[in-house]
Amino acid sequence: ESSTEIDVSAIQPGQAVKAVFRKQPLFVRRLTPKEVAEADAVPASSLRDPESLEERTKPGHKDMLITMGVCTHLGCVPLGAGEGEVKGEFGGYFCPCHGSHYDTAARIRKGPAPTNLLVPEYEFTSETTVTVG
Ligand code: FES
Repeated sequence: ESSTEIDVSAIQPGQAVKAVFRKQPLFVRRLTPKEVAEADAVPASSLRDPESLEERTKPGHKDMLITMGVCTHLGCVPLGAGEGEVKGEFGGYFCPCHGSHYDTAARIRKGPAPTNLLVPEYEFTSETTVTVG
């Protein structure tokens, strides 16, 4: 299947943008140092779907969070990538369909979604380019 190339150079800390990967929404987010610290402050073992920010990002690029923009409950597109300050109670994404709140590492923290937003297969093909898929 086809891969998607994304230029991440223009994405500012605190900004999340939407892209498309295999006809589904993809969220690309550059975390601020505060958002990284918030994600790191939570013991992964305390989470519904235990994963650290480190496990969800690439070495040397802990501030670049790439996930599918598909709620793991029933598949709505969460808010928080391009809707200004709408980020939910945990500073990441919020799914308005049934109220799932995701944190700054896009991990489920509150609401019915069973798992974190999915991290697709991807790699940095340069310092500024990510190839997904
Ligand atoms: Fe997102 Fe139900 S589809 S909370």
